[in-house]
Amino acid sequence: MSRGELLTIRNYCEIMNGIITPVQMEGLRLLLTPFPQEEFNQTEDRKVAAQSLGVTCLDCHANFNTNPAFHLTPDVRPQAARFRLDTTSLRGLFNQQIHGSKRTLRSVEDFTEFEQRTAYFNGDHVSATRKGVNLPDRTNQVAMMAQMQNIIDFPPAPKLDPFGRLDPALASEQELAGERVFMGKGRCAQCHVPQTSFMDNNMHDLKLERTDRCRHSGPGVRSRRSARHRRQVRSLRPKRVLQPLARRGLLVFARPALETTCLRAFSPWNKEGPALLGR
Ligand code: HEC
Ligand code: HEC
Repeated sequence: MSRGELLTIRNYCEIMNGIITPVQMEGLRLLLTPFPQEEFNQTEDRKVAAQSLGVTCLDCHANFNTNPAFHLTPDVRPQAARFRLDTTSLRGLFNQQIHGSKRTLRSVEDFTEFEQRTAYFNGDHVSATRKGVNLPDRTNQVAMMAQMQNIIDFPPAPKLDPFGRLDPALASEQELAGERVFMGKGRCAQCHVPQTSFMDNNMHDLKLERTDRCRHSGPGVRSRRSARHRRQVRSLRPKRVLQPLARRGLLVFARPALETTCLRAFSPWNKEGPALLGR
């Protein structure tokens, strides 16, 4: 739909004219409008040399995907315990029931409203007020921003059938072998359910504190404290991680996230775990 271009405040209107409704268009405008944020604002306390208008939602969620910046979780103190959160892709949001990896916000509206209030300012309402927080109006703005986000589907996956399983006529031998591990001894499908876009819309305690040096939700994070939090199962669809390869007994996906999050988490209590990790 975006003709392969990055949507910005300058081009969105021309690109989307006649394709989306006026309400969605207004939502998109707001998603592309900069609002002040902790590091990007007009006060002397900011990251950049020049005063800044702020950031837009789609700066991070570029084209409703991810750019893929991270920020520190706003809702944990002391500072040293704040772990990183990857910017999630918003692809597939039309079907997602809970939002945010830890807090299970129940609607896109809630997430949209609170993102600027808390996440933008590290969960500090005083800083937010001082730096010019934008509090979008629930009925006139938040609802429209949510309507725009709610039409975002997953990218097409032509090799998957309606049950989320590989079509043997289209998939390669390697992919089919990967799927067998995914469905079978890897036990991945118990949470990443193929029929429901590889999510189960549930929170799980991955018991990451059992693995030493486990990385959690982003590069370079080691936090026993955070590891105990329940996490929301992420859909594997936006990441195109569905071409698992069985190589040397080790599952290799499109992104190292896989090895760091789930395989590490499961190796202690999954009999096959060490084998999956190639150990
Ligand atoms: C600085 C980068 C950044 C900006 C700017 C940003 N987000 Fe996010 N967004 C994130 C991160 C990081 C997460 C993951 C939070 C988590 O895991 O708890 C997220 C998660 C979300 C989610 C939940 C998605 C899911 O799969 O659970 C929604 C919805 C969302 N953002 C909407 C917005 C909206 C609307 C705006 C603008 C008001 C916005 N974001 C601006 C980084 C950003
Ligand atoms: C007990 C439930 C559960 C099982 C079983 C499970 N996962 Fe996960 N998976 C999760 C949760 C929860 C997250 C989100 C972790 C986080 O946010 O830190 C996740 C995240 C992921 C991610 C990162 C997705 C992203 O968007 O960053 C990948 C890749 C993944 N899992 C693959 C697998 C594979 C492969 C298996 C099988 C070896 C597996 N998972 C088994 C619950 C599970």
